[in-house]
Amino acid sequence: MNTPAPPLARQLRDATRDAHRDLDHHPALQCLLATTLTREAYVASLLALYPAHAALEHRVCREIARLGLSLQVPRRLPHLADDIETLGLAPEASASDPGHPPGSLATLAGELYVLEGSRLGGRVIAERLRRTLGPDVPHAFFSLDMAPGEWQRRLAELEALCPPGNQDAAVVGAREAFVRFRHQLDTRFRAIPTHPAPAVETGPAVDL
Ligand code: HEM
Repeated sequence: MNTPAPPLARQLRDATRDAHRDLDHHPALQCLLATTLTREAYVASLLALYPAHAALEHRVCREIARLGLSLQVPRRLPHLADDIETLGLAPEASASDPGHPPGSLATLAGELYVLEGSRLGGRVIAERLRRTLGPDVPHAFFSLDMAPGEWQRRLAELEALCPPGNQDAAVVGAREAFVRFRHQLDTRFRAIPTHPAPAVETGPAVDL
């Protein structure tokens, strides 16, 4: 039987449902699920994901260190860099996040929810990639799956991390993390057409 999600987890899910839908419909991510995906379009998507994921992962890890916590968070950025490099490109160094002030335990709980939750869609994406681009396509970033019970344990950790009465601050942390992620995709994604360009009407030939 599934354990019911802790209250903060339910609040975070409800408060960010629209933000998630918005993000997973972003062209940079939607193209990953398209049957017409090409390797070029896949690389374009990974190149946009790199700075978005880097900013979130760095921020969460920095805050964990700053607040002296012993939370363990798997680093997925090196896998993303490896995938991009195996596909023949170099990931662009992520800009640090100088303007963003330090947060609190509650905002960290919200940000960690977004970072770790983003692993949940990976299995679906990895399966699609194997089907459209073949079993050899590098997709380590999307393949760091959650072990059984891992997400439930993470949600319990978030519940314990967020001080009582600070759930709204956790929601703000999660919402802002989604907004920043989306902003990175908006600014860094260069769409590659996945369909051949339509034939251009050239009109009758003219003798020169
Ligand atoms: C095409 C891209 C994506 C797909 C297909 C996708 C798909 C999914 C799926 C299927 C789940 C639910 C898994 C389950 O309940 O077992 C999920 C959960 C989640 N995803 Fe995504 N996702 C995508 C991108 C992202 C991104 C980029 C982020 C954040 C940066 C994100 C954050 C989350 C979070 C926080 C949850 C947890 C929701 C909850 O509380 O249940 N996802 N995603």
